[in-house]
Amino acid sequence: MSDLPLRFQSVDALRAQVATWRRAGERIVLVPTMGALHAGHLALVAHARAMGQRVVVSIFVNPTQFGPNEDFSRYPRDTEADLALLAGAGADAAWLPSVETMYPAGFSTRIEPGPAAEGLCGTFRPGHFSGVATVVTKLLNQVGPDVALFGEKDFQQLQVIRSVVRDLDMPVTIEGVPTLREADGLALSSRNRYLAPAERAIAPRLHAVLSGIAERLATGAKAAPLMAEGVASLEAAGFGPVQYLEVRDADTLAPVAQVEREARVIAAAYLGGTRLIDNVAVLPG
Ligand code: PAF
Repeated sequence: MSDLPLRFQSVDALRAQVATWRRAGERIVLVPTMGALHAGHLALVAHARAMGQRVVVSIFVNPTQFGPNEDFSRYPRDTEADLALLAGAGADAAWLPSVETMYPAGFSTRIEPGPAAEGLCGTFRPGHFSGVATVVTKLLNQVGPDVALFGEKDFQQLQVIRSVVRDLDMPVTIEGVPTLREADGLALSSRNRYLAPAERAIAPRLHAVLSGIAERLATGAKAAPLMAEGVASLEAAGFGPVQYLEVRDADTLAPVAQVEREARVIAAAYLGGTRLIDNVAVLPG
């Protein structure tokens, strides 16, 4: 196994290390995570290694992006296992701030993202994207990377972060990385471990339904009837409630009635007590 990544728990020590790398002319890539790492995160690290000389992975389960009835307290945490995985993947540093470091007494600033945060998960998780935008802004300011990578599975999150970085003139390039999937199509997610075996068997239907819709949209079909059919198929498979199933423009996230340029079919649905999200690209034929 490769060496464990350097661990940082203070902003000053982290910045000193990044400054040393930067003086040596090295390009710094940040992979922000909440830990509970899986192959999808390791694919982000592999991507990061191809983009720069130094890879910093942050692990922080951010309380401000969870609603009061969400899974903050039970979100899986195993830093040592995460660090071992990061060593194997070749990350250089792990940024492991505490809640007190991120939100010291008196912390009172929130970033309120614009229209990209409206609708979809923004409707069902009030305050979620403000929490994400605030913590990601802090992580980018703390690390000061040249590039930061985010998975496309959280497609709305990716667009929210792009809009915040653009609007606030933050000197960093945001890159989306395609979703890694199990052989049966289920998108990798730290929350998949909540699924009971019977639910795990049903879960790939989400990707199958989205892919079927994407194929038909690509040939010019209208979105509305496909959405109704898709919700019915998901419910018949055992999902419920289906919070949303929509077609959105891939750049602006505006609703799309018929696909003329790149779009995404995007959904969130409960399977038992687990909320799954996924999205599939639609490229008009
Ligand atoms: O996608 C995640 O893991 C989180 O939302 C992020 C971007 C690390 C912010 O806490």
